[in-house]
Amino acid sequence: MRMHRKAHLDERLLSCGDILTVADMTDKNMRTAAEKPAYIDWEGIFKNNNPINLEIGCGKGKFVTEMAKNNNNVNFVAIEKISNVLIEALERAKAEGIENVHFINCAAEVLPKYFKEGSVEKIYLNFSNPLPKEGYKKQRLTHPKFLEMYGRILKDGGKIIQKTDDRDFYAFSLESYLKSGFEIEERCEDYQLAAGDVETEHERLFKERGKKIFRIVAVKA
Ligand SMILES: C[S@@+](CC[C@H](N)C(=O)[O-])C[C@H]1O[C@@H](n2cnc3c(N)ncnc32)[C@H](O)[C@@H]1O
Repeated sequence: MRMHRKAHLDERLLSCGDILTVADMTDKNMRTAAEKPAYIDWEGIFKNNNPINLEIGCGKGKFVTEMAKNNNNVNFVAIEKISNVLIEALERAKAEGIENVHFINCAAEVLPKYFKEGSVEKIYLNFSNPLPKEGYKKQRLTHPKFLEMYGRILKDGGKIIQKTDDRDFYAFSLESYLKSGFEIEERCEDYQLAAGDVETEHERLFKERGKKIFRIVAVKA
């Protein structure tokens, strides 16, 4: 059963090859893998040098595909570590013929492998897993360990735009941005969707359950 699903998934991923960079899995140690550059030629892929906006943990891709459709002058890259989920984002983008979006089936831990220093304008963290247990703290996508990496690939003045439904993760993230030298440009504890933004799958789900949405805009100083 598992094998059958895998084979099918591989075929589907293959058919999205023009909008997917398949992660290099030769080095299983993500820390050392991250430091072996295999920079992606974004200008070659998008055939222009428009700014790069990156979504980390894009899930089924509603946010990134809609943002790409609404912003033709921006190139969107989305990463997602679970290919079984990412396939939905890929197929959505293919079906809609969106040209300014590209995906990598990689984990945030290896981002510096694919992105040159100072090459990204904005990073979106939409409803990243809050991982409340103390033992998983270092895996939270706003832990200083990750912010150091994001800081490297962001341009000066580049932004991280984060939304979450989790108050503790929001507080942890605020502290983490400040510790890591980011400035807080905006913070909001009852965010209502603003013009130019797109509601994500999880955002809709949490709002339907009556949860408040927290949002932070952090700037690389
Ligand atoms: C709660 S879902 C949110 C999905 C989507 N952004 C949304 O708002 O609907 C979090 C997603 O992040 C992905 N993810 C978690 N840790 C990750 C990591 N270290 N690197 C890349 N993706 C990750 C998960 O696989 C999952 O699809």
